[in-house]
Parts: sequence; C-alpha cells; structure tokens
Amino acid sequence: MIEFRSVSASYDAETPVLHEVSFTIEDGDFVAFVGTNGAGKSTTMRLMNGLLEPTAGEVLLDGTPTTQLRTSQLAARVGFLFQNPDRQICCNTVRDELLFGFKAQGRADAQAEAKVDAIIERFGFDADAEPFLLNRGTRQLLALASIIVMETPVVVLDEPTTGLDFRECAKVMDVIAEMHAQGTTVVMVCHDMEVVGDYAKRVVAMTAGRVVADGLTFQVLRDPAALHAAHLLPPQVSQISMMLVERNAELADTAIAQANTVEAMLDAMQEQEEAVSHG
Ligand SMILES: Nc1ncnc2c1ncn2[C@@H]1O[C@H](COP(=O)(O)OP(=O)(O)OP(=O)(O)O)[C@@H](O)[C@H]1O
Ligand SMILES: [Mg+2]
Repeated sequence: MIEFRSVSASYDAETPVLHEVSFTIEDGDFVAFVGTNGAGKSTTMRLMNGLLEPTAGEVLLDGTPTTQLRTSQLAARVGFLFQNPDRQICCNTVRDELLFGFKAQGRADAQAEAKVDAIIERFGFDADAEPFLLNRGTRQLLALASIIVMETPVVVLDEPTTGLDFRECAKVMDVIAEMHAQGTTVVMVCHDMEVVGDYAKRVVAMTAGRVVADGLTFQVLRDPAALHAAHLLPPQVSQISMMLVERNAELADTAIAQANTVEAMLDAMQEQEEAVSHG
C-alpha cells in the first residue's frame, strides 16, 4: 500500500511544486495519473520510490515512511520507469541491461540469469544488441522489461507509451496489463485518455500540484467538472456516452413537454364538453 499524507514537495526552497497531496493506493490497484504538463505527476512518482523526499507530510510504503527506508529496500518494493527510458539504459548489451538491477542489488546469481534469459525469450530481444542502437519502441520495451524482471510488487511507470506508435503502444500496454493481472500494483502517468480508459481502474487527476479528481476511471472520465478542472479531453467512448446521456435527457424533456401539452389540451376539451352539456 502506498499512502500520501498531505505531501508537499519542491525542488528548491522558493517554488513549491506539490501542495498537500493525499491519496492511498491499495495493493493490486491500477491507477493512472493524468493532468497537463507541469501538473506535478512526475514529481508525485519520484516521491513514491524515495527519489525525492517530501518537504512536508509523509509518503508511506506499507506503513513505513520512505524517509526511513534504505534505497535498496525501496528498490526491492517499487520498480520505476523514467519518463525518458534513455535515462535508465546504461549498459552495452541488452543482456547486461536486464541483469543490471540484480547486479546493483548484489544478487546476479544463476536464478537471476535464468529470469533474464526467460524475459529475453518472451520479448524476442537480441541479447547481444546494443541498447542505444535499438529503435525508440524497443528501447522503451527494454526499459520496461528491466523493471519487470525484478518482480517488484509495485511498478511506477512515468508515461510508458509516450512517443510510441499504435502497435508499440499496444504491445507495451499488453505487457503492463499482464503484470497487473498477475498481482502487480501499477501506477502510471499517461497523457493518452484512450489508454487510460482502456486499462486503468482508477484515475487521479492533477492540476498545479494538487489532486483535483480521484475516482474510478469510468466515473472520472465522464465527470465534466473533473475533466474541466484537470483541463482534459475525455476518450471518444466517454464523449459518445456523455452525448447520448445529454441527448436522452433532451428527448425526455421534449417528451414531458409534449405530454404536458396533450394533457392541457385534453383538460380544455373536457371543460368545453362539460360547458356544452351543462349549457
Ligand atoms: N528537476 C527539477 N528542478 C526544478 N523544477 C522542476 C524539476 N522537475 C520538475 N520541476 C518543476 O516542477 C513542476 C512539476 O513538474 P513535473 O515534472 O512533476 O510535472 P508533470 O506533471 O510530470 O509534467 P509533464 O506532463 O510535462 O511531464 C513544474 O513546474 C516543473 O517545471
Ligand atoms: Mg512528467
């Protein structure tokens, strides 16, 4: 479980970037953080694995403040995919890249090697390829695979699909969905509302360092006030369903108005009939 309790954060003393952000992410959840550029999403992600410490409030991992956990303890619990995969790719071959996390934790043993071999097979990587010569989509998949292979209970993914084409995006998201299905808690920053609508169970929307909406995906993406507050456009399917709801409401209003008119006409006719029969 990840808990933010009134967390504020900044990169320098003068400019606060997060303002009293609070939320809880339960084990097994799939949460998407959405919002405009500079809203504080990446900052929130960095706080989750202790890359950044709060200036006020607390970030708790399974009840323990991140400030009390060692880097190795944090790394064992939270896998982290940077907004730019090239920030985390540092080895000369794909195989070394996938082994890097194990080496950093001092456990590059036969078991680790077997896990790396299995993931190379699963992703169809060329083990000896040079990571920086791979195309953007494959580098992103490699960065993701290097997190998956560590089997952390939580993964924090900062824009895992940005810059990918449709096919690459689907491939990356299928891998993430599979991880989630196997019990991994997924926290993801995403600008693509179609992807958010298709995969995330819950949405946290941020604006100017504050949480402005937090709820089930289908509710937040159909809530005009939440979308407006976070300056977001809903995915097409939500747009269509909102239009249908509005259209139905208009039709219902028209039907009620027509029924009222008919009722008034019937009343008038009845009055006329009564007047004639009495006269
Ligand atoms: N390393 C840094 N040093 C100083 N200020 C920073 C740093 N990183 C981010 N900021 C500032 O913090 C604020 C929040 O940035 P953050 O990167 O968290 O936003 P974001 O929601 O991830 O935006 P984007 O969608 O563009 O990635 C911005 O005003 C940004 O300029
Ligand atoms: Mg960001």
